[in-house]
Amino acid sequence: MVPLVPLETERLRLEPVSGGHAEALHQAVIDSRPELLQWMPWARSPNLEGGRGAAAESEAAWRDGREFHFVVVERSTDEVLGVAGLNREGESAAELHYWIRSGHTGVGLATEAGRALIKWAPGALGVSRLTLWAGRENHASRRVAEKLGFAHVGPLGWRPEGGLGQFDAESYELDLINT
Ligand SMILES: CC(C)(COP(=O)(O)OP(=O)(O)OC[C@H]1O[C@@H](n2cnc3c(N)ncnc32)[C@H](O)[C@@H]1OP(=O)(O)O)[C@@H](O)C(=O)NCCC(=O)NCCS
Repeated sequence: MVPLVPLETERLRLEPVSGGHAEALHQAVIDSRPELLQWMPWARSPNLEGGRGAAAESEAAWRDGREFHFVVVERSTDEVLGVAGLNREGESAAELHYWIRSGHTGVGLATEAGRALIKWAPGALGVSRLTLWAGRENHASRRVAEKLGFAHVGPLGWRPEGGLGQFDAESYELDLINT
């Protein structure tokens, strides 16, 4: 099993999601709902029971080697500021995803968390390539992809479901060997 070890960056601690995070994560989702809703179907009607179920599913997915979700915690305050993670896509690739709590965006935290996962992924998961997709109109997320060094591949071949319906998205990838 991939070790359940927290990662540290200058401002953040990335803690593998556990049931103990469910309440704080639920509050972060409630506080961020207007910003999350367009992109995240689970932001439609968040509730604590659903949050507990999602945390349990994250723990199971980590144990099974499928998904590796980290709670983004501010080191100086211990405040829960979002989630960043990787979903395995076969042996050699994984998909990066992230969200950051409203009121804490625009200061580089998604990029900082993403960088930590990019550094962690090859050794921990044995992957050589990361993928990412972002809503075509999700300019902040697309900018994070660029800042992390992802190359724009083109339109995503399917339309993801957000909280307000499906949306067009763009596909990105990062070669971890030649960068
Ligand atoms: C997208 C998201 C994760 C960004 O988090 P963040 O911590 O603010 O990201 P960073 O501060 O590292 O970088 C954001 C960049 O986007 C830019 N940006 C923000 N809003 C923008 C907009 N409307 N148009 C263009 N650029 C924008 C910021 O200026 C910054 O770029 P810069 O450093 O060059 O100035 C956060 O806004 C979020 O959680 N949104 C809702 C959920 C979501 O969309 N998740 C991604 C799903 S793919």
